[in-house]
Amino acid sequence: MRIRRKPWARPELAACEFFVEKPSIYKGKWHSLFTKQNPIYLELGCGKGLFISTLASCNLDKNFIAVDIKSEVLVLAKRNIEKQYNILNQSVNNVLLTAQNIEQIDNMLGCEDLVSRIYINFCNPWPKAKHKKRRLTHPKQLEKYKNFLAQGADIFFKTDDENLFDESIEYFSVVGFDVVYITRDLLHTDFTENISTEHERMFSEQGVKIKFLIARLK
Ligand SMILES: C[S@@+](CC[C@H](N)C(=O)[O-])C[C@H]1O[C@@H](n2cnc3c(N)ncnc32)[C@H](O)[C@@H]1O
Repeated sequence: MRIRRKPWARPELAACEFFVEKPSIYKGKWHSLFTKQNPIYLELGCGKGLFISTLASCNLDKNFIAVDIKSEVLVLAKRNIEKQYNILNQSVNNVLLTAQNIEQIDNMLGCEDLVSRIYINFCNPWPKAKHKKRRLTHPKQLEKYKNFLAQGADIFFKTDDENLFDESIEYFSVVGFDVVYITRDLLHTDFTENISTEHERMFSEQGVKIKFLIARLK
């Protein structure tokens, strides 16, 4: 995704009450940053935040952390969250945004954080063999997630990419997750709680079928 430079992004994020500037400081202490003690759900690669803004504002009994590497998209996520909560006349107190390279997610989350669910939506498919280790569903990454996941936690994974999807099914199995729900055409299923992301809308408009699974930690 090519993003235009936004020199105002970092200052705007720094001034935002629900943006965490130094996530590694809170390793093992994320629950303490939320007003209410509720299960933590994590979105990896939140992009412009259409998904997290809807999900978090509709689930006030859950706490959310949304991560991306780019300030230029995080600032748009910040604005989308504010807009959505404004419409609902709610204050933003169950969602935190942070900038972090997910390949080093273990720098910011530890076993005390007990994350109950991870969302991975339309991550980079890294098709070349030499790059596959960078996939957010690669066993190397899944092992890192296991360190901070609660027992029986779920990973919700959506993609347009057939090859990434097929290989991820194997990755989950190798690392000790059970695939408890799977579809290769999400829009034509009974999974009514789905919330579309920016990329999902784009691919659906192009007629690309959305692949989706839920993997549960054994
Ligand atoms: C293809 S976009 C998908 C955005 C959104 N989830 C959606 O479905 O529309 C992938 C997002 O993941 C972020 N990303 C990619 N690799 C990352 C990494 N290693 N660490 C953090 N964010 C990453 C990108 O900046 C981008 O916003």
